[in-house]
Amino acid sequence: MITKEVKIAHISDTHLSGKQDRRQVDELDRLFGYFKTAGYDHLVISGDLSNNADPEDWRIIRKKLEIHGFYHWDKATVVAGNHDLINLEEEMRFYNALNPLSLVRKKVFERKLKEFCFFFQELITGEEQGGNAFPFVKIINYPSVKIAFAALNSVYPWYPADNPLGARGFITPGQLRALGQESVLASLQGCFLVGLCHHAYKVYGTDSLIDQAFDWTMELKNREEFLELMKRMQTKLVLHGHFHRFQAYTTDGITFINGGSFHYNPKCYSELLIDGQGGFKQKFVLVP
Ligand SMILES: [Fe+2]
Ligand SMILES: [Fe+2]
Repeated sequence: MITKEVKIAHISDTHLSGKQDRRQVDELDRLFGYFKTAGYDHLVISGDLSNNADPEDWRIIRKKLEIHGFYHWDKATVVAGNHDLINLEEEMRFYNALNPLSLVRKKVFERKLKEFCFFFQELITGEEQGGNAFPFVKIINYPSVKIAFAALNSVYPWYPADNPLGARGFITPGQLRALGQESVLASLQGCFLVGLCHHAYKVYGTDSLIDQAFDWTMELKNREEFLELMKRMQTKLVLHGHFHRFQAYTTDGITFINGGSFHYNPKCYSELLIDGQGGFKQKFVLVP
């Protein structure tokens, strides 16, 4: 029997801001180089690759993934974060200048999501589908275990009243329906299922009254529907980012891993070891 564990590295929220930030780019290079040397089978990046929705930042990540041999469908998986799709300054400027209909802003948002999916299509569908790829399911057959990634887009367009910071999350009913179909559930039989999105299930609170007042601006609006779907799919693990904390927590038997933020600690990442018997181990690792 083959018992070799599958090694997955998970990072999040790189928040790159251009080539000028040499330190960040060098740290990224070092980290990906380390993942290669340490023999990771797969790398997951759970959103907010760019700080200002700039495709040039996506390009930096793509280049580094290519250099270290991770730019392949079966080697890496990415989802978009709010900072990849929404440039807050631009939204405010448009809103102030033109007071556009929300439908127009929604179109702009959908175009940006398409751009992201098209840019990273090799790591998403692996095919030239362009367009909206979310949700997608990626099943990788390792010698010891079949791992399925079920990825959803949780970024929700900017709206002045409902999503003033662009940081609130929502998973569209269409995505939830698509993954909940009987045919999808049947295709996942025998897989170790990993859920993936940018926003957190957990509601992060603090003791500060001011912070509490702002909590709702960061939340995943329909997190309970998301949890129900994950349970229905018999997901064991869900990976996310958004709240820049390296943290693991469990809800209704599902372990959620917050991949923290590379931007704040470029030497820390989450390691997952998945075995052939349906078990896994997770820990946060500091690169030596
Ligand atoms: Fe972030
Ligand atoms: Fe975020």
